[in-house]
This record gives sequence, C-alpha cells and structure tokens, in this order.
Amino acid sequence: MADAPKSAKLSIGDDTYDLPMHSPTAGPDVLDIRKLYGQAGVFTYDPGYTSTASCDSTITFIDGDKGVLLHRGYPIDQLAEKSHYLEVCYLLLYGDLPSAKQLEEFENLVTNHTMLHEQMVYFYRGFRRDAHPMAIMTGVVGAMSAFYHDSTDIHDAHQREVASIRLIAKMPTIAAWAYKFSIGQPFIYPRNDLDYASNFLRMCFAVPAEDYEVNPILSRAMDRIFTLHADHEQNASTSTVRLASSSGANPFACIAAGIACLWGPAHGGANQACLEMLKEIGSVERIPEFIARAKDKNDPFRLMGFGHRVYKNFDPRATVMKQSADEVLELLGVENNPVLAVAKELEQAALADPYFAEKKLFPNVDFYSGVILEAMGFPTSMFTPIFALSRTVGWISQWKEMIADPQNKIGRPRQLYLGETQRDYVDIERR
Ligand code: SDX
Repeated sequence: MADAPKSAKLSIGDDTYDLPMHSPTAGPDVLDIRKLYGQAGVFTYDPGYTSTASCDSTITFIDGDKGVLLHRGYPIDQLAEKSHYLEVCYLLLYGDLPSAKQLEEFENLVTNHTMLHEQMVYFYRGFRRDAHPMAIMTGVVGAMSAFYHDSTDIHDAHQREVASIRLIAKMPTIAAWAYKFSIGQPFIYPRNDLDYASNFLRMCFAVPAEDYEVNPILSRAMDRIFTLHADHEQNASTSTVRLASSSGANPFACIAAGIACLWGPAHGGANQACLEMLKEIGSVERIPEFIARAKDKNDPFRLMGFGHRVYKNFDPRATVMKQSADEVLELLGVENNPVLAVAKELEQAALADPYFAEKKLFPNVDFYSGVILEAMGFPTSMFTPIFALSRTVGWISQWKEMIADPQNKIGRPRQLYLGETQRDYVDIERR
C-alpha cells in the first residue's frame, strides 16, 4: 500500500486544520482526530463506530470486501485446517506460532488449570434451573474476581498472565457446568488426559453412571468451532472488554462484560436466534414467506445468521463452518436433518435474491455453527456460551495488548446533544 499522505486538511468556515494520517500494514489509512476538538472545538459523529478505529492492534486483520480474516497474519482457513484451538490461543496471546516445546508447555499449563475453586459450585445452586447459561456464565465469570485475588492486579505482568491462563482453562468447565445445572445432572469434572475440546464434550455429555468415549470427529469439529470464533478484531464484545478494561477494572469483571455484550442476538446470540429461526421456518416451502418478511421495511424480522458489519462479500469462517457441518451431519447420519435442509435451501434462496446481493447480506459464522451444535446434541441455549468460551482468548489477547499500550487511557466518547438547553426549575404549584 502506498504511504498515506502525511496529513489531511479540514476546512471549517475560514479556518483550515491539518490532521495527521497514519498508514497501516494492511487496511485503510486512518485520520488522526485526537487533537481536533482542542484545535477546532468540534466533535466527530459516528454512532456505531462504523468509520472509527478505536485503537491500533497487531492481533487480527479483517478485509470485509475480500472475505479475509488473519490472526497474526495467518489466514483463518489455514489455521482451521492445519492448527488447533490451543495453538491458535498461543498465537493470539504471544504473537507467533509456538515451537513444539512452547506448545507442550502452554497446553500443560491450560490443562492443569481447568478446575474451579470448589466453593464456586454454590454459585450455580443460586440460579433457577431454567436460568439461561449465558446468565450463569456472566455471573460466575464476574465472581472469579472474588476467588482469584492473586490475579486481579492488572499492573503486574505475572498476574495478567495467570488471569489469562485461568480464564482460558476454566471457561469450558464454567460453560459445561452451566449446561449440566440447567438439565439437573451432576457436574462432570475435567480430566487431564483429554484435549481441550474432548474435555469440554465429556463435561457436557458424560454422566457418572457410565463411561463416555469422545468421538474424535466430533471433538475435531468442536475444536474447529472454537478456532473459528477465537477472535475478530474490534467487534462489539471485544470493544466492550477494552472499554471496561480502560477504567482499570480487573480481568474477570471485563470478560464478564464481554460475555454480557456477546449475548445479544445481533452479535453472539445470533447462532441461537438463527437455529430458532430455521426451526420456525420448519420446511423449505415456507422459505419464501420469511425471505419476504426479511425484505419488508415494516417488518423488524431479519434473517439471523445473515449479514455482517464488516464482511460485505462472504464470511470466511462460514465457508469453513459449512464444510464441518457436512462432515458432522454425515457422521451422525443426519445429513437429511430437516433443519439443515432448510438452512441449505434458505442460503441458496437468499443468495439468489437481488435484495440480499444489493445489501451484501451473506451467511456469517453463526449461520452454520448452530446446525453443527444442534447435531452434536447441544440445546440452542448453549450456542452462545460456546461462542463466549471460544472468544475468551480473543478478549484476553486484546485486553493484554491494550494494557501494554502506553497510549492506553480511559475510554470516554462524547455526544451530539439534542436535548433541552438550560432552563429553571418550576415549582409543582406552577406546573
Ligand atoms: C457476529 O462484528 C463482528 O465481528 C461480529 C462477529 C464476531 O465474530 O465477533 O462476526 C459475530 O456478531 C456476526 C453477526 C451475527 N448477527 C446476525 O446474524 C444477526 C442478523 N444480522 C443483522 O442484525 C446485521 O446484519 C448485523 C447487525 C450483523 C450487521 O448490520 P449492519 O452492517 O450494522 O447494518 P444494518 O443493520 O444497518 O443493515 C444494513 C441494511 C439494512 O437495510 P436498510 O436500512 O439499508 O434498508 O441491511 C439490512 C438492514 O435492514 N439487513 C438485513 C439483515 N442484516 C442487515 N436484512 C435482513 N436480514 C438481515 N440479517
């Protein structure tokens, strides 16, 4: 990319201001407006931050037009095919692929920290059995700061490292126990002889009454789902974690804030909403009715699992996820799954419809993940907890990067105020 011009000129009335510009290693140039208010007395206006770079980062790069997703420069399709989740965690956390020795040490560290403080079991019992697992995860992760005091000092690099490993290691246990609690089954403890994905599947689906063998194809598909959701630049939940962290809050509180944000159906909750939508559609015959609703300006209905703030061509994760869906469903002998039949037909119908092409609405990562998770036996309420589990490493990596950034300061956006100007109080007798 040719170097950006060193500055841009902004004219307001008779005044002209020089605003510096910066060139990235990839992606658009940026206009540095940090001194704009001080110089010109004006704010910029960008609700939803669609044109705003909130930070600089070296972790993940997305090219929405080309459908590119790089983690520390490595394309997501190569990582999904050749790597595995804990290796991608190492890459995101430390900046490069590990040597065999580094990977072994990292995997041992994570494996040996998967248990929760036993007293945390009582938090689960405080919830109703029908509590959404995301409500439980938000509460239990936030409560970790009440148990792991020796890793809450964000200014201590060792404590930041300990908190990072604890969160990555314990999130599968927290999520699996939220599921077990919701179905009234006993908690299954992690085992150190299992890999990360196999451990999670066993904690979710094993029961004390019998042995449980993890199917390696399901474990591989689970690990791939973790990898595909690991990080995604400055999305809503990552930005929430960064903003919460900017006040100096402890890492467990910040990750709990990220979980809360991810829960929304426009974000990580879309996989649950997508599968519920596919089930509501029910048959391929009803697809035209729902396509029409999605296009109707007067109908708030949207095709869940379609569209993306950044990807305006295709979501490279959806491409990989679709391959996994075919493998898992064939393995489970449910390739004739009616939900998958609706999903495939809906994708074809939407992609053939000019409305979706014009608005650049394509299947996103959530479109196929829900189909795989349901085929594996997860209830829809566990889809977003699995997304949160996967994204923990992304949140943590971005959190660590931000704290290490000397420019780090508390985030404090301003506003375009359209309310009442000052007026005097009116006594009730005179109203
Ligand atoms: C994730 O940011 C990330 O990186 C997120 C994520 C990650 O890994 O962290 O990738 C994970 O959140 C994926 C997105 C999951 N969400 C969904 O699948 C929910 C359904 N999608 C939509 O809510 C929507 O597409 C968004 C929120 C994802 C993105 O919306 P935008 O880009 O902010 O734009 P918009 O909402 O203003 O929509 C632009 C137009 C609108 O029509 P007009 O007002 O221009 O006439 O497209 C329409 C919208 O009505 N539109 C849709 C649609 N999504 C947008 N119409 C029908 N169905 C849809 N799904």
